[in-house]
Amino acid sequence: MSRNIRIGIIGSGSNATRHAAAYMKMNDVELVAVADLVPGKAAEFIEKNGLTQASPYESHERLLELDLDGVSICTPNIAHHRTSVDALNAGKHVLTEKPMAVTLEQAIEMVEASKRSSKILTVGFQPRYDPNHKEIKRIVQSGTLGKVYHVQTGGGRRRGMPGRGFIRKDISGSGAIADIGCYSLDLAMDALGYPKPLTVSAYCSNYFGTNPKYHKDADRFDVEDFGEALIRFEGDVVLNFKISWAMHMDTLGPTLFLGTEGGLKIEPEQGISKLSSGAWDKGPGSITLYHDVMGHPTESAIPVKSHTLDIFYEKVRDFVVAIKDGKPAPIPGEQILLNQAVIDGILRSSELKREVVIELPTFS
Ligand SMILES: NC(=O)c1ccc[n+]([C@@H]2O[C@H](COP(=O)([O-])OP(=O)(O)OC[C@H]3O[C@@H](n4cnc5c(N)ncnc54)[C@H](O)[C@@H]3O)[C@@H](O)[C@H]2O)c1
Repeated sequence: MSRNIRIGIIGSGSNATRHAAAYMKMNDVELVAVADLVPGKAAEFIEKNGLTQASPYESHERLLELDLDGVSICTPNIAHHRTSVDALNAGKHVLTEKPMAVTLEQAIEMVEASKRSSKILTVGFQPRYDPNHKEIKRIVQSGTLGKVYHVQTGGGRRRGMPGRGFIRKDISGSGAIADIGCYSLDLAMDALGYPKPLTVSAYCSNYFGTNPKYHKDADRFDVEDFGEALIRFEGDVVLNFKISWAMHMDTLGPTLFLGTEGGLKIEPEQGISKLSSGAWDKGPGSITLYHDVMGHPTESAIPVKSHTLDIFYEKVRDFVVAIKDGKPAPIPGEQILLNQAVIDGILRSSELKREVVIELPTFS
């Protein structure tokens, strides 16, 4: 494609600013439209961010009438599905923010729309672009660990509960799992080659968010602030997952990959903040390979790469490059549907207080 790529942004809240900043750095992209449901908000966003080429719209439907190549979906989670399906049906490529949707059913419809339209559906998991994650994935997939049978991952914040729509089921679908858990699940599942989830047994609670001592909007808080799950995957591998927005603990432990020939331990970066995260989505502090060398149990440090890569820019750029070069989705919706299936399973299992089976569709 030789002309500039024409992009629209749907939802002009805080995260849209980062999408706009990324597009503005690209001299082969024109950011031509921004839509937000709140009257005047898109116009204000355009003004504030100096988007001189962009026009404001008060509905995504109006924006989708334009001649656009692609859209960034930056609405709250609940609207990812409707806006993505409408955009794909209108023949636009889609980069939707994480989590993909709020239910598995919605994610399935999004993938179906992408297949029908032959347009890209990609999901914004920028931690994938961290060179350290790429190295972890390379090691896991190289066979160095032998057959990987167990993974432990997740992450915890001591105090890190957001507010706004993030604490409402009707806006975000779920809490800590949809907000930060989906990243940890994505990194672990990506390293494993995105195996199909089979069953989930989970527990979720919200003792912190619903307590006025810990959250100023406790009376509005109806999502989980802690979630824990045992997920069985095809290929005889289990994932032990824990995530929390608040807890009386410094960490929920390292990420571990256990294999028949070796193990990998990924410790979160130390001292990020006592109030904030130890989650793997922030990048690892140390990576250690446990293996036998000449019959002796040995530990080898894998150097953590310090980098200045703007991983958010990288994800947006990859979307544009895929559009330009007619390449497949960088992080395909069809794959992230499995991430959504796990989230769906966790919420269902926690609600039913028993293990649930994950039913997946087959696409032609
Ligand atoms: N990848 C990341 O690093 C990252 C970081 C933060 C948030 N996010 C994700 O980005 C999304 C947005 O988060 P945010 O913090 O910007 O939220 P926000 O509430 O600040 O902004 C969302 C905006 O979307 C608008 N909106 C809602 N429904 C709409 C619709 N149907 N059409 C048009 N506009 C609509 C709202 O009016 C609001 O202005 C969430 O899904 C969140 O999970 C991702």
